[in-house]
Amino acid sequence: MKSDVRDLKFATEGKRRIAWAERDMPVLRLIKERFRKEKPLKGKRLSCCLHVTAESANLVRTLKAGGAEIVLVASNPLSTQDDVAASLVKDYGASVFAIKGEDKETYYRHIRSAIEQKPHITMDDGADLVSTIHFEYADQAGSILGSTEETTTGVIRLRAMSRDGALKIPVIAVNDAKTKNLFDNRYGTGQSTVDGIIRATDILMAGKSVVVAGYGWCGRGFAMRCKGMGANAIITEVDPIKGIEAAMDGFRVMSMIEAARIGDLFCTLTGDINVIRKEHFEVMKDGAIVANSGHFNVEIDIKALEGMAREVKKGVREFVDGYVLPDGRTVYLLAEGRLINLAAAEGHPASVMDMSFSTQALVAEWVVRREEKLEIRVHDVPEEIENWVARLKLQSMGIEIDELTEEQKEYLSSWKIGT
Ligand SMILES: NC(=O)c1ccc[n+]([C@@H]2O[C@H](COP(=O)([O-])OP(=O)(O)OC[C@H]3O[C@@H](n4cnc5c(N)ncnc54)[C@H](O)[C@@H]3O)[C@@H](O)[C@H]2O)c1
Repeated sequence: MKSDVRDLKFATEGKRRIAWAERDMPVLRLIKERFRKEKPLKGKRLSCCLHVTAESANLVRTLKAGGAEIVLVASNPLSTQDDVAASLVKDYGASVFAIKGEDKETYYRHIRSAIEQKPHITMDDGADLVSTIHFEYADQAGSILGSTEETTTGVIRLRAMSRDGALKIPVIAVNDAKTKNLFDNRYGTGQSTVDGIIRATDILMAGKSVVVAGYGWCGRGFAMRCKGMGANAIITEVDPIKGIEAAMDGFRVMSMIEAARIGDLFCTLTGDINVIRKEHFEVMKDGAIVANSGHFNVEIDIKALEGMAREVKKGVREFVDGYVLPDGRTVYLLAEGRLINLAAAEGHPASVMDMSFSTQALVAEWVVRREEKLEIRVHDVPEEIENWVARLKLQSMGIEIDELTEEQKEYLSSWKIGT
């Protein structure tokens, strides 16, 4: 089994962390047990381009229990947990190509290794795998039954390809499932982004002015957590509806140029490019800290910051670089502008990934079991999968909800009964 990981000697710690995460993934555990018996993925090759974390290791174990042959590569050069990668290779016989901090060339070499196993199904987090197939291995696209996409940025890219008639593979937008974005993006990114920022800087959140760019699922989760810790969260948006929502949720809403003057900490969660740029760095306070938790490292214009700085102090702390500006102010950039929750912390807690990855596993099974090949476009996750995952998650939390009575079902589907 070919692999490229940092060092297999880290496997013991990785195995412990994978087991700890699995404790909090009860729905995925159930799927794993069923997959072990039924082997729905037998003989199928799956190439997964995901953040290599303890949670995705449990997804890989589930897919393997279902009979799949797996190659796992990183979906971001900084998000790999080297101990988890080592354990997947040593203890679980998976083929993994991922090293934390790998350069761009290695990152894409690893992605090519995943494509060269000629997958039947691909799983992406940001669409780098599917894009590379389209650009460099287009002849393989026809043999791929389906590709799942885990994140908002990936779905945006794939929908754009579909719109332009460039898409050659059927895609299932796992990100858009309610069992994914309502929980993973909001509570997962919310909590783990705070975690990443604190681990990188050890700052006190209470009393800080935190500027949150983007009030989508991730941004509102993060803003909510900052508020809960006593920070003064300020929202910047480009969507007027989201702007109103943020204001009515009790946040201050303003333009980035206004916020740039008062923020102590900035975090982008937009999926957009150059959200914080030269004109904003120019007016920031001395000591301002800037981070990103959106998918790609494009949300902060790092080139502009580099161009403005008279000195760059690399590694003033792990994951912190100081950019000294000509007038003596220093702006601190975290994790080179890459997603802070995965670079400096451990990504989302297992409990939310339980829902996202259960959805991923069931969608893979659904794609394989279908008699007809999926049409080439971006598909939604089937509703029955979402409902199944949600019900089991609720059950695992020990929560019971009511069921509609026959009378209520009739009432809700009728147009004849009024007051
Ligand atoms: N860090 C993680 O682990 C993690 C997890 C899930 C998603 N993501 C990524 O986070 C990003 C956001 O995801 P989401 O699900 O919240 O998306 P979303 O579409 O729900 O929200 C994005 C918001 O940003 C706003 N926006 C766009 N450009 C802006 C700008 N220039 N200034 C201010 N606001 C702007 C949009 O109007 C929108 O409300 C994506 O890149 C996604 O892939 C990261």
